[in-house]
Amino acid sequence: MNSSFRWNVGGSLSQSGVFGRDKFIDQTWDILNRNSVLLEAPRRMGKTSLLRKMSVDPPPGWDAIYLDIECVQTPDEFASRVRDVVLEKIHSWGLRPKYLKEFERWQGSLYTTGPWKDLLIAVIADLCHAQQASGRRALLIFDEMPMMLERIADSKGNQTAIEVLDLLREFRQSNETKGVRMVLSGELAFDQVLARLQSNSGRPLNDLHKMELGPLERANAVELAIQLLDGQRLNGDWAAAATRVADITGGIPFYIKKVCQELAKANVPATPATVDQIVRAAIASPSDPFQLEIFRRHLQKYYHADEKQVFAILAHLAAAEHPVSARKLFYLPNISDDEELVFELLRRLTVDRILERDTEGRYSFQNPILRQWWAMRECRF
Ligand SMILES: Nc1ncnc2c1ncn2[C@@H]1O[C@H](COP(=O)(O)OP(=O)(O)OP(=O)(O)O)[C@@H](O)[C@H]1O
Ligand SMILES: [Mg+2]
Repeated sequence: MNSSFRWNVGGSLSQSGVFGRDKFIDQTWDILNRNSVLLEAPRRMGKTSLLRKMSVDPPPGWDAIYLDIECVQTPDEFASRVRDVVLEKIHSWGLRPKYLKEFERWQGSLYTTGPWKDLLIAVIADLCHAQQASGRRALLIFDEMPMMLERIADSKGNQTAIEVLDLLREFRQSNETKGVRMVLSGELAFDQVLARLQSNSGRPLNDLHKMELGPLERANAVELAIQLLDGQRLNGDWAAAATRVADITGGIPFYIKKVCQELAKANVPATPATVDQIVRAAIASPSDPFQLEIFRRHLQKYYHADEKQVFAILAHLAAAEHPVSARKLFYLPNISDDEELVFELLRRLTVDRILERDTEGRYSFQNPILRQWWAMRECRF
C-alpha cells in the first residue's frame, strides 16, 4: 500500500469486531441519560453488534443488560428471561431482591392479572430499588422486539402482545420506576407490527426517542475495508480496491466484510475490477452469501396483498440507471391506477429503507447490493 495513504477516521477493528460506531454509541448513551430509545435499522445493518458493544463497554456508572428476545414465544417466557438477567445484575452489585421474594411467596394465590405481569412488576421494582441502593444505573436492552411481539401475537393473540408493550411503557413512565431505561431494537417493522396488532391502547412506543442506524460513514467504510484487506494480506491496489468496496456496498459493514472474505477466498489481487467480479459472483450465487433472500421474504410478509405491484416497482427501479419519479412508476404494467395506493406503497418502502427518495421526489434503491441482486433476480425469471 502507498505509505502516504492514511485515513484518520478514528476506529480500529477492535476485539468486539465493531468498527466505526463510536460516535453513534456516544450519542445513544447521551440520550439514555434522559430517555429510553427505539433503535431501528434494516436487516443486517449492525444493530446487534452495536448493542452488544454497548453492553460490554458502558460508560462509568452504567451497567447494560442485553437480551436477545427473537425466539421468545410467550409473555411468561419473556418475564422469566428478564427476571434471570436482572437477578444476575442485582447479585453482581452485592444485593438481594426484595419484591421477587414476596412474589415467590404469593405465587399460587389468586391473580387478577396474569403472573407474567406480576413477575415483571416485581423484577422491575427490584431493579429500581437495587439501582438506588448501589448508585448504579441499569440499561435494559431488548433486541429483536418486533419478532418477539409477532411470536406472542401468534401464540397468545394480538391483545397480549400489546399488553407487553403497554406494561414496558408503564415502567418507563410511572413515578416509582421512572429511572428504568430501555433500548427496544429491531428491524424497521415496528410500525407494521403495531398496525398488525391493531393497537388501540394509544401509542405504546411514543415516549421513546427514535434512533436509526445507517451505513458507516464513507471514510470509516473505506478504513474498514483497508483493515480487512490488510489482515488477509492480499496483493493489488488496496486503496482503490477498498474505496470500491466501500462504494459498491453502500458502506454497510456486513457486505464490506463479505466482499473482503470472498476476495481472500478467490485469492486474487485486490483491485476495483476484482471487487466488481466478486460482488457479481456473490450476487449470482445460489448459496446467497449476502443473505439477500431475507429482504424478499420481508416484502412477501409485509406487502403480501400488494406483492405484485411492489415487485413491479422494484424490478423497474433495479434496472433504472437513475432515480425514477412516482409519475413514471404509475404507468408501469401491473400497477394499480389508484394513485393513492401507489404513493402509500412508495411511502412504506421508503420508511422500510428498501427505497430512498431524493430531494426531487424520485425513488431508487437504498442498498446498492440489494439493487444489483434484484436486477439479477429479474433476469432469472
Ligand atoms: N460496525 C461494524 N463493524 C464491523 N462489522 C460489523 C459492524 N456491524 C455489523 N457488522 C457485521 O455484520 C454482521 C451483521 O450485523 P448484525 O447482526 O449486528 O446486524 P443486525 O442489524 O442485528 O441484523 P439483523 O436485523 O439481521 O438481526 C455482523 O455479524 C458483523 O460481522
Ligand atoms: Mg440483530
